[in-house]
Amino acid sequence: MGERMKGKVAIVTGGSRGIGEGCARALAGEGAAVVIADVREREGAETVAAIEKAGGAASFVKTDVLDYASIQACVAEALKRHGRLDVLVNNAGTHFPHSIDALTPERWDFMLDLNLKSMFLFCKAALPELRRTKGAIVNMSSVRGLIGQQDAVAYCASKAGILGLTRGLARDEAKNGVRVNAVCPSNVETPLMQEWLAKQADPAAVRKECENAQPLGRMADIVEIGRCVVFLASSDASFVTGTHLVADGGALLD
Ligand SMILES: NC(=O)c1ccc[n+]([C@@H]2O[C@H](COP(=O)([O-])OP(=O)(O)OC[C@H]3O[C@@H](n4cnc5c(N)ncnc54)[C@H](O)[C@@H]3O)[C@@H](O)[C@H]2O)c1
Repeated sequence: MGERMKGKVAIVTGGSRGIGEGCARALAGEGAAVVIADVREREGAETVAAIEKAGGAASFVKTDVLDYASIQACVAEALKRHGRLDVLVNNAGTHFPHSIDALTPERWDFMLDLNLKSMFLFCKAALPELRRTKGAIVNMSSVRGLIGQQDAVAYCASKAGILGLTRGLARDEAKNGVRVNAVCPSNVETPLMQEWLAKQADPAAVRKECENAQPLGRMADIVEIGRCVVFLASSDASFVTGTHLVADGGALLD
């Protein structure tokens, strides 16, 4: 157990599984009390149990990031449990392949609501307390917010939008002492990734392609991305705001 986040309280959206779980584990591993805000109760309980087993502190608040009332209730519950909030990790999101021709206006709205609007809403609900603690926000973007991807216009737009939200909010909140940054991973070994691979005609071949997309020759582990979030959330990054950390195993080098 490290101590870089000792005494700090962090909300991690989508923390029940995948990259959010990695963020929750990494933050708790540095001493933060973590509140997992997610719709998945079983996986959330498993992640809380794993963190506690490792000596960390975590709890679960069932939260739907598509619903502003649910978000506000989550922030209120975190304050009730811990009396403060120092870090917000906006991570909940999804990806599904969608050609522009097959993409309906409703599916566009769903992708943008879940991946982008939810982050605006969570920032809005958490900012009064983050201003009080001079806290930090870390938003989960993607390398797809920096470059394109086939059959992913809504996803790419949502992830680029997160970078715009990050920069705009960082500018506004600098005077209040709140830092706002983003992380841009490439391929990460998560349940979402595994579910998508399982649907491919030749999952083993596609997995190899996903691994080889990174010059490091593999996908990221969820806790490796979590450690990037810890850096941006911690005082180690006290002069870093309005930017993004690319954690891509070198994928953008080619
Ligand atoms: N896996 C990758 O390769 C990769 C790469 C770059 C960026 N990302 C981003 O990382 C984030 C997490 O992706 P992942 O691969 O870990 O996905 P995942 O599906 O494995 O985990 C996502 C979590 O978010 C939660 N969630 C979904 N909708 C929610 C809602 N309405 N309210 C609350 N929680 C909700 C899910 O229940 C789940 O626990 C996403 O924003 C994704 O775009 C993923």
